[in-house]
Amino acid sequence: MTTQSDAATGVHPGPDAVAAAIAPADWSPYVQRAGNAFDALYAQLLPQIEPMIAQYEQKRSALIPLAHLFQEQEGYVSADALAAIAHLVGETPATVESTISFYTLLFRRPVGKYMIQICRNLSCMLNGAEEIMAYAREQIGVQHHETTADGLMSYEEVECLAACDRAPCAQVNLEFVYDLTRESVDAMLAAIRAGSYEIAPLPQTVRPGRSWKVAQDTGLKSAGALGVSNPNNAGGVGDASGLVMFDLIVGRPQYETRSNERLVHETALRPELAEADH
Ligand code: FES
Repeated sequence: MTTQSDAATGVHPGPDAVAAAIAPADWSPYVQRAGNAFDALYAQLLPQIEPMIAQYEQKRSALIPLAHLFQEQEGYVSADALAAIAHLVGETPATVESTISFYTLLFRRPVGKYMIQICRNLSCMLNGAEEIMAYAREQIGVQHHETTADGLMSYEEVECLAACDRAPCAQVNLEFVYDLTRESVDAMLAAIRAGSYEIAPLPQTVRPGRSWKVAQDTGLKSAGALGVSNPNNAGGVGDASGLVMFDLIVGRPQYETRSNERLVHETALRPELAEADH
């Protein structure tokens, strides 16, 4: 596949560029690469790393703290960092890779200076996340798993952030942002663009590609629906396919019965059931 610049084509680099960004590391604990930025970082962090590992019974318990440590310095977990972590905790690079790629708290690709992660899980969706995500995508100008052309912002839709009582919510550079509204999204984006946002930018040691999708993510993917052609139509219950699904579920006798059991106590919603409750 030919990879051309975004400016020339307006096309995202795609999997080739992603593959280049995650090429295997040539880091080795036994070879010092003259003038290499990661080797210098590793030497600088080593006095911090050793006590960090020593506090755990098993070295592998330090895997995630170490990933955060390198990410705080590099803006993401680079291939060199991944290899170094594997060496430090005595695990294979595959184990480290699989751990890092599991958590949306850890970035395996270079990302924007502001990583905006909006929750798409149940409480947030019930409180309007679907509309907020569509609005945020429009205002940022990117889709799920993409970065703006200037490398300032990356956008991702993530699972429950464990702040359901303040839904809909997000994390920006892993800091919580609660009770999202269109207005608060506008204010956040304006402050980020003006360089005055209260949350500090991530370091950016490598300019990010426009997309960090991996092979299994190449189809359009947005909240509540797979294969929805318009990424700003998040699908779900309000979408035609969602309605069909909803109808299929609600129409089944066993669900109807359960709904009535619950609603028996909700006389405001089903006053005709009030008498049956006594
Ligand atoms: S559902 Fe969004 S924080 Fe839990």
